Amino acid sequence: MKGFLITFEGIDGSGKTTQAELLYKYLINQGYIVQLLREPGGTLIGERIRSILLDSSLTEMKPYTELFLYLAARVQICFQHISPALDRGEIVVMDRFFDSSTAYQGFARGLGSETVEYLNSIATGGIIPDVTFFIDCDPEIALARISAYPDRLESEGITFMSRVRDGFLKLCALHSTRFIRINGELSIPDMQALIVNEVLERFSIKL
Ligand code: ADP
Ligand code: TYD
Repeated sequence: MKGFLITFEGIDGSGKTTQAELLYKYLINQGYIVQLLREPGGTLIGERIRSILLDSSLTEMKPYTELFLYLAARVQICFQHISPALDRGEIVVMDRFFDSSTAYQGFARGLGSETVEYLNSIATGGIIPDVTFFIDCDPEIALARISAYPDRLESEGITFMSRVRDGFLKLCALHSTRFIRINGELSIPDMQALIVNEVLERFSIKL
């Protein structure tokens, strides 16, 4: 793979989408070829799976059903978009990727991080991000930022999001060269400056 894969992770409302979009625009303005993708979604099949996953009326969904739906959407986006773009030498910016499954389903739902990491490796065909930004935000602050109409996962509330956050912190410690923790309570421009600096530094190492 000749390209460069950048992922954004964190609990709901931490500021990932904002930062992924800002980085995408910055890199496009610098003349790079960049794809901005999100999970779950990013393909026709993935967007349909997304609508099932986020439907807050589907309260009967079992943790393994949830996990396998995220994995199914992941297979599609990896093989339809991520691998081909990386093979063409492009930059791919992802608003969530497989670490979300490890944090949400592996740690917070209790399915086990090793099981989820193993299934992730099958779903992705072995793709691993060059850098992962974990936007770390207090769950109370993050949940206060998001909509008055919470989706199925957002409805789980503060205790669940705290478990997800702890999961991401464990992943940061476990994969300390790939993960960069960014304080999600900084201003939007301050966060962006840190992220751009880190990306440019990593480019100079890889390219
Ligand atoms: P996520 O993708 O992690 O759910 P978003 O980027 O969609 O988060 O941000 C959620 C909300 O919080 C949006 O209304 C956004 O404008 C706001 N927001 C994002 N970053 C910050 C920040 N650093 N400080 C305050 N509000 C923010
Ligand atoms: P989304 O609106 O994209 O995220 P956010 O609210 O952070 O902007 O919603 C996706 C939801 O799916 C979010 O609650 C996190 C969850 N999720 C998982 O539980 N596992 C996964 O593997 C992925 C990719 C997302």
